[in-house]
Amino acid sequence: DMKYTVVLVRHGESTWNEENRFTGWYNCPLNDKGKGEALQGAQLLKEEGFKFDLAYTSTLQRAIKTLWIVLEEMGLMYIPIVNTWRLNERHYGALQGLNKQETVDKHGKDQVLVWRRSYDIPPPPLDESSEHYPGNDPTYADVPKADLPLTESLKLTEDRFMVAWENEIGPKIKEGKKVIIAAHGNTLRALVKHLDGISSDEITGLNIPTGVPLVYELDDDLKPIPHPDGIAPLTGRYLGDLEEVKQRIGAVASQTK
Ligand code: 3PG
Repeated sequence: DMKYTVVLVRHGESTWNEENRFTGWYNCPLNDKGKGEALQGAQLLKEEGFKFDLAYTSTLQRAIKTLWIVLEEMGLMYIPIVNTWRLNERHYGALQGLNKQETVDKHGKDQVLVWRRSYDIPPPPLDESSEHYPGNDPTYADVPKADLPLTESLKLTEDRFMVAWENEIGPKIKEGKKVIIAAHGNTLRALVKHLDGISSDEITGLNIPTGVPLVYELDDDLKPIPHPDGIAPLTGRYLGDLEEVKQRIGAVASQTK
């Protein structure tokens, strides 16, 4: 039966990743290292002969720029790009802007790990007077206020992402579109949790590295066809040197010690 390929890639390192700040919906740019990671990911995709004819990304420039770098390097700048808030990073609520290690020093490592990696416990919510409240951001002018978060658990992130996956991205993949999704650490944790049926316990241990293309082969029902090189619990395949990939995954986890 049919086999579809979809490529996921987390944005390269951003300025707030470098400063170890909780980012969420804050719209910081890639840093130079992050641009290099995006270019390296593009070269891996090009070497393996990947082609895309449709791209999805968020409204946040760190993911958009990663996608632009990939498409430019692959000679695919002509393909349509769909930007949607539904692929935005998980909203980190009142933690946005705070330094992650300082937050550990204040609240303890276990509490921060719950905020970063638990499935259904959201970080503390924003106050609507906060500069981080999306309701005042013109980017989201056409999004119903009721949909705009004051904070998001991974489950809430998955719920709003799945609206786009079920209604738009999945159907396009089934039409035969070769899709690339450039998104964020926790939106991709939400997507692979859905694809690989990862439990809410197991998902707390999953970290997605910056800039490394993650390739999924899907069957007719958009269920993953496990790849032998998948790094458990993922059935998809990271491109490139797996030791380098594991090192980058470790770097994400160790942002809070
Ligand atoms: C952020 O939003 O801070 C990062 O994109 C993801 O952060 P995390 O790895 O702490 O969830």
